[in-house]
Amino acid sequence: MRTQVGIVGAGPAGLMLSHLLHLEGIDSVILENRSRDYIESRIRAGLIEQWANDLLIDTGVGARMQREGMFHNGVYFGFGRALHYLNFRDLIGKGVTIYGQQEIVKDLIHRRLSDSGQILFEAADVSVHDLAGNPSIRFRHDGKEGEVVCDFIGGCDGFHGICRPSIPAAVLTAYDREYPFGWVGILSESPPPEHELIYAYHERGFALYTMRSSTLARLYLQCAPDDEIENWPDARIWEELHARLDGTRALAEGMMLQRGITAMRSFVVEPMQYGRLFLAGDSAHIQPPTGAKGMNLALADVKVLSRALVAFYRSGRSDLLEQYSATCLRRVWKAQRFSWWMTQLFHLDPSHNSFDRKRQMAELDYVTSSEAAMRSVAENYVGLPVEG
Ligand code: APR
Ligand code: PHB
Repeated sequence: MRTQVGIVGAGPAGLMLSHLLHLEGIDSVILENRSRDYIESRIRAGLIEQWANDLLIDTGVGARMQREGMFHNGVYFGFGRALHYLNFRDLIGKGVTIYGQQEIVKDLIHRRLSDSGQILFEAADVSVHDLAGNPSIRFRHDGKEGEVVCDFIGGCDGFHGICRPSIPAAVLTAYDREYPFGWVGILSESPPPEHELIYAYHERGFALYTMRSSTLARLYLQCAPDDEIENWPDARIWEELHARLDGTRALAEGMMLQRGITAMRSFVVEPMQYGRLFLAGDSAHIQPPTGAKGMNLALADVKVLSRALVAFYRSGRSDLLEQYSATCLRRVWKAQRFSWWMTQLFHLDPSHNSFDRKRQMAELDYVTSSEAAMRSVAENYVGLPVEG
């Protein structure tokens, strides 16, 4: 099989890359090792930055999001038994959208397939070859060996994928940080305590009250990094969620549809390119979910990459491809900084003492009372501009 761009992974990065390229008349094939069912039901984060919301609409895949998504003007920071509202709309004229990542994945798969796009689900033993020469992707599908020969490879196969490890180790530098906590996350058949998000700082640990709809709450609690979900029976989860909301709102309980533990890690690899292989999304960087940046960064990377590929195919320009890594990394590091900042601001760190807790409270007070500080939070939260 021959195509212009071979893509490994059908997450938001791989699917959006394939869609953006198709809109510009560039052909691609996606190889995904999981089934369509699996990736369409995998529950992930669900917060979309303003520019990404616009990108989905402008490229014709935002109709269901516009009908079913929830448009938010701001967020609440809870501390000291009160909620403090940051109104992004008033501060900078932008907002965010709540719409599950797997819904975006469904919408993109539907659109790629109706545009006759090729996605090979359940492709086994995917491997990438001759990255600095004539690249190809080998795999097994339906029991047969297959090969995609291409001009470029999009390495969109997430943090545990095969693309990043296929780059010679000496070429890459990894920047890594682990955090001494994780999150317990549940999906509950009950209304969220507020119609916008509440990030709560509490002496028992951080909690986040978000949602997927007005009747479906998505709730998170800080836990130990090596905690196991068996340690969190329903009664304990609800008790902690009530306690950390601290009487600021009533919390309805509902049936738990899903529960799990998320690890916290910041990771960036540089550069995001080797030869004709371009890493995008989680394959190049991950961050703690406190800043809600994961899917948004994946979409930003492929927006930059698709523009660079369009410039190459339209006018033979390779300068944008050469600048791909540097262009993405400038924004990636700002998103890393913001995710780290939100994380250290809201979580109880076992190495902290009473001084650190006073400092956190002072910072929370500052960022919810100084207009300059609130604007800074707002512009980072709704998403910095995407270059390229
Ligand atoms: N071969 C083929 N496909 C693979 C392989 C492999 N060896 N390894 C992983 N994949 C697939 C995964 O099954 C997944 O569908 O690559 C896809 C990667 O998708 P994501 O993990 O969703 O990563 P990305 O598209 O970069 O989106 C980032 O995902 O992890 C979340 O919070 C993160 O929201 C962020 C988003
Ligand atoms: C979510 O809705 O799942 C969500 C929202 C904001 C975050 C993390 C997760 O910071």
